[in-house]
Amino acid sequence: MRLRLVLPATFLITLSILSPVVIAARAPAQNSSGAKPFDLIGWNGGQIVYGVDYYPEAEGPVDKDAGMMQAAGINFVRMAEFAWAKMEPTEGHYDFAWLDGALKVLNAHGIKAVLGTPSASPPAWLMAKYPDIAAMDENGVRYRYGSRRNYCMNNPHFLAAVRGIVTAMAEHYKNHPGVIGWQIDNELGGPDCYDSLCLAAFQKWCRTKYGSLDAVNKAWGTVFWGHTYSAWPQIPLPWNTLYGVHNPSLELDYHRYFSDASRDFLVMQADILRRIAPGKAITHNEMGLFDNIDYSHLNTALDFVAWDNYPMIDFSSHATYENYEGAGLAHDLMRGSRSQQNFMVMEQEGGLPGWNTFWGHQAPPELYRVWAYQAIAHGADGVCYFRWRTSRYGTEQYWQGVLDQDSYPNARYGIVKQMGGELTRLKQILQGTRPVSQVALLVSPDARWAFHIQTLVKGFDYNEQLHRYYGSLRRQGLNVDVVFPQSDLSAYKIVIAPSLFVLTPELAQKLAAFAAGGGTLVLTYRSGVKDEHNVFTDETLPGPLARLAGIAIHDYDPQTSQDQEIVMNGRHYPAKVWFDILTPGTAETLATYDKEYYAGSAAVTRNQLDKGNVYYVGTEPDAPEFYDSLLAGILRGAGITPGPPLPEGVEMATREGDARKVIFLLNYTASNQAVPVGEAYHDALSGAVTAEPVELPPYAVRVLVK
Ligand code: GAL
Repeated sequence: MRLRLVLPATFLITLSILSPVVIAARAPAQNSSGAKPFDLIGWNGGQIVYGVDYYPEAEGPVDKDAGMMQAAGINFVRMAEFAWAKMEPTEGHYDFAWLDGALKVLNAHGIKAVLGTPSASPPAWLMAKYPDIAAMDENGVRYRYGSRRNYCMNNPHFLAAVRGIVTAMAEHYKNHPGVIGWQIDNELGGPDCYDSLCLAAFQKWCRTKYGSLDAVNKAWGTVFWGHTYSAWPQIPLPWNTLYGVHNPSLELDYHRYFSDASRDFLVMQADILRRIAPGKAITHNEMGLFDNIDYSHLNTALDFVAWDNYPMIDFSSHATYENYEGAGLAHDLMRGSRSQQNFMVMEQEGGLPGWNTFWGHQAPPELYRVWAYQAIAHGADGVCYFRWRTSRYGTEQYWQGVLDQDSYPNARYGIVKQMGGELTRLKQILQGTRPVSQVALLVSPDARWAFHIQTLVKGFDYNEQLHRYYGSLRRQGLNVDVVFPQSDLSAYKIVIAPSLFVLTPELAQKLAAFAAGGGTLVLTYRSGVKDEHNVFTDETLPGPLARLAGIAIHDYDPQTSQDQEIVMNGRHYPAKVWFDILTPGTAETLATYDKEYYAGSAAVTRNQLDKGNVYYVGTEPDAPEFYDSLLAGILRGAGITPGPPLPEGVEMATREGDARKVIFLLNYTASNQAVPVGEAYHDALSGAVTAEPVELPPYAVRVLVK
């Protein structure tokens, strides 16, 4: 858990997946009325935002850098998110002269800026004066100065200092035309802090949510082991206990509390910025599949979503270059976390990732351009590479920027420049367009947290399940929207809702209404098991979904040592992780188990309603072909035509708007590929009319329009 203090985005995702310990937070689904429209392209003077993360406090000379940036088509920088000590060298004395100077030069080269509020890295003088700003681990030990994200977000001295620097930045830059927005903090999401302030904050959160201790005791089932609370101060944080076990209901609420507290911290800063410097957009750099925070809740406080995309870190389960679907899923989740509003990538991998202690993969330079186009294809209206130049100092000396320390215009710079030139040609085509999908993948933050609390079975990975269904849809050439429990489902023909382990009555009802209205719903194993308090249902599984799915589950097998197989249409597929043994009621059996005492029992079912259909997949088939075959049938049934056949390593994604459709074909491989799109298109990058099939040389990007 300590690592969460310091490590970058994608690494954190992995840790949170692997760690059964406390991950953190958010509260009940709220009805969002949909995101405010925000035209990112218009926002940046009508251009697609194309930038680099830049650190003039440590590098330069700025005039040479700005010249090279401009030559590469760069029109945007993000700066200052770790420069608190430089902007406030001593308490209450602010110095923006160095930043003003950099902005002046950058602006003169047509480059605008988002400034980061620097709360992720409190200065040494502040933490020396108020040592209790440092977060406390679960053993009651405060972290020592160093690293970053090392603060307690409930500490009044810290909050006062944050308000001070944010106010000073807002005042200083409120009328600056070259500063177009703010990024609040940097990758919120940790650490968990176990000091008395955070304890009191959690107790207060519980009090606000439940009103009375009776309600808490009832919701959490504290009768178990006699954990009944008779005064608010008795409520603990989920910290070190003997055997490391906690009440799962308390833990789920802790996750919600932590997510809410992170949002409150962000809102405190956003309020200052909006009050003093209205008219500048507010965002935060998020982390895709990272789940300490319910982004769908956090993001209602932003003007637009931004996130940090590092596809070449191989320890993140699905983000290597062989598996571009991982980055695609993260893009779509980020877009879905603000009601499908277009977003930007605030940190797009621009070179080899490496820290003191780990490395990612080096990519062929061309691939950095393909990744950046993938972001755009999935709804990004801006891409900003991390970082302009590899740092000479500190922990990230091996985390390559576009340039290396010697500033030589290397191959990556050449690629970035190529794309910079291309984007000016695309802005008209892309303006007003966004990905559109008839299929949605539903992510439940509550279910994800609950699985972290009780890891249940070896090999279970909520995100892996998302990936399996998502990957199959993308292989069939379809866009996918990621939605959340509070999302409006009416635009979709198919909703895939994996492992709804924790289920509120509202969501159960919404899904029932969706299917009754003619939608196709796909449910998977371990659904309907717990109520919203993480308490087991006393109904026959899948609990509130049993009637809808037309099945009962009287027995299950949590991954015994043998391999399991299922048989569907005469074909065998390996299956793993979990086996719900289904007893069909009104449902028909589509696949059966092939082994163990329950061989021949139903593994996959379909319940046909008057209008809609509900599928239940009781296990995790371990073969892409299974998903392709099941989903091909489901798509046919729902009247959705898949895209053209795609060779492995080629992705298709589309954006639509103003009666215009833009097709992106992305070749992630080092080989020539071809895609039969069916008709001739205009290739917006080359200006040529395409032949059939469309040829894709290694690492090619095609942007096709009529
Ligand atoms: C991100 C972080 C950046 C930088 C980058 C590479 O997670 O926001 O500041 O650290 O990772 O490590």
